[in-house]
Amino acid sequence: MKDSLLINRHIAEYLSSLEPDLPDFLEKLYQKARENRVPVIRREAQSLLRFLCLDRKPGRVLEIGTAIGFSSCFTAEFLPADSVLCTVENYEPRYIEAQDNIRAYREDYLQRKGHDSAEIHSFFSDAEAYLKELCDRCETFDFIFLDAAKAQYPVYLTYIQKLMTKDAVLLTDNLLQEGTLAESKFTVQRRDRTIHLRIREFADMLFRSGDFDSVMLPLGDGMCISRLSDKDC
Ligand SMILES: C[S@@+](CC[C@H](N)C(=O)[O-])C[C@H]1O[C@@H](n2cnc3c(N)ncnc32)[C@H](O)[C@@H]1O
Repeated sequence: MKDSLLINRHIAEYLSSLEPDLPDFLEKLYQKARENRVPVIRREAQSLLRFLCLDRKPGRVLEIGTAIGFSSCFTAEFLPADSVLCTVENYEPRYIEAQDNIRAYREDYLQRKGHDSAEIHSFFSDAEAYLKELCDRCETFDFIFLDAAKAQYPVYLTYIQKLMTKDAVLLTDNLLQEGTLAESKFTVQRRDRTIHLRIREFADMLFRSGDFDSVMLPLGDGMCISRLSDKDC
């Protein structure tokens, strides 16, 4: 699987080379996803997810967009063992494959480390319906990884805002759309215009509404880190 990179390929390769090796199980799962053209978090963006998990040590994690469970397992690798990660996917074949991969990952983790990994609960649902359910149950999360249908991000964000604890971090992937988001709307292909509009709307909510503090990094396909604004600052 080839990627269009936001940064020079040599730099991306250099950044990837700095990353610690993944445990065999995760490396094989990553390679399998790439061979089967399943869009999983890119190598040079994994470092950010790893760092944030190690730094924040979140107890409750929410992932929107499971695919085949690579990022769920990758995240669990760096979470405290008593954490809980909930992840949602709406494409049934991927959800089924993710369940198998997550089960196998947790067995592998137990063998390697001698104790259970963080719990991983995967759900088969449309993300919006699932987010609404979580809000209705007044659930909250310390860390949220948003990696699903980009056009729906503005809608998801209104729910996500309610689900974030005061100090929670939101990590969003694919916000630069291989760099095309920075181009004039007139040069963007017609088929990409709606998605660009939605992503710009989402970026405005994160950067201009006053509700969030955010930083965008040209890692992977554009990763954004956000927290709820401290209105007293
Ligand atoms: C980029 S992939 C997720 C990759 C995964 N986070 C990883 O890095 O291993 C996005 C996933 O979101 C799922 N998705 C898209 N729209 C969705 C929706 N409305 N509800 C739930 N999942 C959705 C897609 O089927 C796809 O598997």
